[in-house]
Amino acid sequence: MTAQVRKRVLVTGGAGFIGSALCEKLLGMGHDVICLDNFFTGSKNNIVHLLPNPFFEIVRHDITVPIFLEVDEIYNLACPASPVHYQYDPVATVRTSVMGSINMLEMAKRGRIRILQASTSEVYGDPEVHPQTEDYRGNVNPIGPRSCYDEGKRCAETLFFDYYRQYHIPIKVARIFNTYGPRMSENDGRVVSNFIVQALRNEEITIYGDGRQTRSFCYVDDMVVGLVKLMESDEGFTGPVNLGNPGEISMLDLAQRIVALTGSSSRICFKPLPQDDPVRRRPSIALAEERLGWRPTVPLEEGLKHTVDYFRSVVG
Ligand SMILES: NC(=O)c1ccc[n+]([C@@H]2O[C@H](COP(=O)([O-])OP(=O)(O)OC[C@H]3O[C@@H](n4cnc5c(N)ncnc54)[C@H](O)[C@@H]3O)[C@@H](O)[C@H]2O)c1
Repeated sequence: MTAQVRKRVLVTGGAGFIGSALCEKLLGMGHDVICLDNFFTGSKNNIVHLLPNPFFEIVRHDITVPIFLEVDEIYNLACPASPVHYQYDPVATVRTSVMGSINMLEMAKRGRIRILQASTSEVYGDPEVHPQTEDYRGNVNPIGPRSCYDEGKRCAETLFFDYYRQYHIPIKVARIFNTYGPRMSENDGRVVSNFIVQALRNEEITIYGDGRQTRSFCYVDDMVVGLVKLMESDEGFTGPVNLGNPGEISMLDLAQRIVALTGSSSRICFKPLPQDDPVRRRPSIALAEERLGWRPTVPLEEGLKHTVDYFRSVVG
């Protein structure tokens, strides 16, 4: 993945958790990177270290407003990703996925630009099949509190495929499963950051439900490699393709590992499960392995160590 030619790459949501890691990766490959963000959930702290690089630029902009930039590739990551943030203003969340995707696709259409959509495992809703393969159509509640995100992302996928069929835009759709690592936001209610922050503060660690529900967690460095490989894949390969780590872990096991890693004196406590919270989710990554030659390489223990180190430096 060494850059043959210096491409100008737009990363929407580039000041966010995954976006900032992607900007870093693309700069490292020798590309010219434009980070577009409205700083709703992202932060300048996430990209401040990139500012001295003359090949890095920031555009403060909301993707729900049309914009045209001269670029060679677009990674569309802009969207609040955790329930706390996407439920804060659900209408804005839908607008970001739907209007934002239309605006980015219009930019792509104008310049025939390759465009990648950061979709999500949430398009599978509360899945009835395990693990989820890309042809599974999902079990999503269209009117629940998570719908602004799930259905917004589903509609964004629809738009991507309609632009592909109708205007022949080169599209790529990644269905991202839970990702963790440094620069996750400290207080957005995502389980890994929640547990680590609670452990570092020696506060009670909250598990929703009985702790037997499982998730799979992909380290952010693995995720950005997957996104770049997808962007660079054969012209004819659009996805959707699952990107995630198939290793499943129960919430109770995760909490216990984090307590051990941090040397915390936290106790584990249990609270009721929120509405529409899936009990189990695990990607099938056979397609990513076959078409992209990608699979995660960072073991959970190692990724958690890096993440704990990061939170030690930001948690007061
Ligand atoms: N982190 C995960 O586990 C995960 C899982 C599945 C999908 N995803 C997807 O990956 C993408 C990045 O997620 P993340 O975890 O880095 O989240 P994040 O909240 O850290 O990053 C999202 C970024 O988008 C920006 N943004 C939000 N709305 C915007 C708008 N209207 N205009 C411009 N910028 C806007 C935010 O300020 C932020 O910098 C999202 O699209 C998310 O849905 C993430």
